[in-house]
Amino acid sequence: MEGLLAEESPLARLACVMVGLPARGKTYTARKITRYLTWLGHRSRIFNVGNYRREAVGAEKKADFFDPQNIEFSTQRAAVAENALNDMLEWLCKGSPHQVTSAALNSPSLGTPLGAGLAPYRQMSVAGAGVGGPSRIALYDATNSTKERRQFIYDRCCEANIKVFFVENICDDDNLIMHNIKEVKLTSPDYVGWETQDAINDFIKRIEHYAKSYESISADEFGGAISFVKIFNIGKQVIAISFYISRHGESMYNLEGKIGGNSNLSPQGISFAQKLQGVIETIQTASFLNYPKLQWKQLDELSSGSCDGLTYEEIEQRYPEDFMERDLDKFNYRYRGGESYRDLVHRLEPVILELERHKEEDPIYIIGHQAVVRAIYAYFHGISHEELPYIKIPLHTIIKLTPKAYHCLEERIVVDVPAVDTFRPKHH
Ligand code: F6P
Repeated sequence: MEGLLAEESPLARLACVMVGLPARGKTYTARKITRYLTWLGHRSRIFNVGNYRREAVGAEKKADFFDPQNIEFSTQRAAVAENALNDMLEWLCKGSPHQVTSAALNSPSLGTPLGAGLAPYRQMSVAGAGVGGPSRIALYDATNSTKERRQFIYDRCCEANIKVFFVENICDDDNLIMHNIKEVKLTSPDYVGWETQDAINDFIKRIEHYAKSYESISADEFGGAISFVKIFNIGKQVIAISFYISRHGESMYNLEGKIGGNSNLSPQGISFAQKLQGVIETIQTASFLNYPKLQWKQLDELSSGSCDGLTYEEIEQRYPEDFMERDLDKFNYRYRGGESYRDLVHRLEPVILELERHKEEDPIYIIGHQAVVRAIYAYFHGISHEELPYIKIPLHTIIKLTPKAYHCLEERIVVDVPAVDTFRPKHH
């Protein structure tokens, strides 16, 4: 997907259209994609047709509402899906250089002038950002289970100059489907107040209705122009793995209020390091101690370039313009000769992929610097890039993160060694 975006970066607009029968993990996939893209600094939003349906015709619709042979209901469902599609196209075209006509959108374009409101100084040069703002990726979350429907979506997107990418979730594991129904569907607003077994039976009937007309994606759709991936049995390997993250022990630079550098630990920082093993032992098992230790260049602190070794006050005196600019847009501000938070998240991508791939029970503990820990923390909690650079990550505190399907659990273990507070709030 990054490739598709990079092609037209920094102004790429992409519709990612989900495909699949109900309870196949489409919403789970869409949320994961959105969280990842948001973390990378793109604008990403889900348009869930189920939500539009509930709003338009109410939540308490029985399985028959999804019968493709029922003309009245099919028409209602198509109208709801089209409303969601229109909203998606309108959102995608915001700030786009392609002035989309109201005919293409069925509603007026909300386009804004290129680069409006953005300072020209040291604009981003990395994928996903620049004059005009970051890329926009919409996730169209619905079954989209027939060729005809996909053709309709594709045509509408083409008219609006939007690239389209399809993601099909296929699941042939009955246990997994039942797990999805019980975990997600029965707790949805569609089944409030239903007896569990009645709700399960109704949902299975709904799936059967969709299955009647379901056509899996084939490579010859749109005359062979279709771009797609198929994901099989998503969620099958999801097990609850916890990650631990913390900053290093307090450093001399931390004490002196200086940024950057790789200065020595302060006496309190050394105390933290000494206590760490004992703390880890109590929170996990001794296996942690014999665990392989890796040093990763990717985990270096955000490079502050010419500001390295200065205090915030010194930076303000020497580079007042930069100092203000950073406060105005901390995620995108790039230090002279250094990095921005946006650069940092791109640098940390392999670390995140590694964590996502980690399927063993053995825990991973990452010790990093303030900005690095913020970026990793933000990924797991789905925190926006406006908020990311201001996340509070105190020294001498271990954060345990346990990602779940739709959220992330957190626990903080404060190690009993005092440390300075290096947090600097937004001033301007
Ligand atoms: O102060 C410690 C530190 O890790 C610095 O080296 C780094 O520049 C800074 O934190 C990052 O925090 P912020 O982005 O809030 O300045």
